[in-house]
Amino acid sequence: MKILSIESSCDETAAAVVEDGRKVLSSAVNTQIAEHVIYGGVVPEIASRRHCENIGLIVRSALSQAGLSVGDVDAVAATYAPGLIGALLVGLNFAKGLAYSAGKPLIPVHHLRSHIASNYISHPELEPPFLALVVSGGHTSLIDVTGYTELRIIGSTRDDAAGEALDKAARAMGIPYPGGANMDKLAADGDPFAYKLPRPEVDGSPFDFSFSGLKTSVINLLHNAGQTGKEIDIRDLGASYMQTIAQILVSKTALALDEYPRNKLVVAGGVSANSVLRREMKTFADKRGISLYFPELRYCGDNAAMVGAQAYYEKSLTGSDALKINAFATMDIDKQLTV
Ligand code: KG4
Ligand code: ZN
Repeated sequence: MKILSIESSCDETAAAVVEDGRKVLSSAVNTQIAEHVIYGGVVPEIASRRHCENIGLIVRSALSQAGLSVGDVDAVAATYAPGLIGALLVGLNFAKGLAYSAGKPLIPVHHLRSHIASNYISHPELEPPFLALVVSGGHTSLIDVTGYTELRIIGSTRDDAAGEALDKAARAMGIPYPGGANMDKLAADGDPFAYKLPRPEVDGSPFDFSFSGLKTSVINLLHNAGQTGKEIDIRDLGASYMQTIAQILVSKTALALDEYPRNKLVVAGGVSANSVLRREMKTFADKRGISLYFPELRYCGDNAAMVGAQAYYEKSLTGSDALKINAFATMDIDKQLTV
């Protein structure tokens, strides 16, 4: 089964063709990073406008790279939630129109489910059940994945997501957007133990995360240094910050595995590209004797191949049901879509 998939939840316009949930026949991504960088973050109105301009070209490019026309695919999939609402609507409405006019079913896909599914592409042998840690710009969650569409949230962030905490602290350090990715490069040779940073806990919720206190401690440290004229080595501070975030993510994952034992651990989302997190998780998984899965770097950030991978396992809608589907800025990963 060949699925033409579309992703437009944030600042990437992407389209792909994926066969049987695992084989990528094409994957085209147009990133808007260069345009948002001067604002230090994504500007929703600009994102939506660029999606409108690029979507037709990107879809055509994905089809032509795969050597197919829309008549050759079996279904059209698109991200419907969560994300920037104006951005989501562009991809979803384009998919609706294409599916309707070509007489194909439409498959709405949850963005975080698709991040998890990026691992089905990179590891074709991977099947549920497993524990998933999803770490992106907008979300940080531990999820027990018992089936492709059966997922249970074990813990989530109470405030900032890991990616958001990285981006905001990076901004305070003078590192340009996207801060997480740039901090990873800049602090590669920094000393991860140069600065001792707090590891906040959420009272009574051992599986939940809280990153805002950690982020604020770095911002305060920079302000105090600015006022007292103390030198801060940004490479050391960045390395210490990434090390602290990675340690928090590893320790919560370890706790979740104690309570919900699985022998497979899957990490996904933009922050899964982080070199410190990859190293720390590998040490942890080796010690614990469990299999560890990360997506290939090109499928860590937002892309449409992961949407096509998850779509293979999701419900397809036809006729008026497909046209009724709406986009949602927020939506829990365990929620089953009803029309
Ligand atoms: O999954 P994603 O592409 O978009 C969302 O769904 O949010 O994640 C974007 C996040 C941003 O916060 C970005 O800074 C972070 O992923 N990111 C990284 C790295 N590459 C991207 N964070 C740390 N290290 C990286 N190498
Ligand atoms: Zn994402």
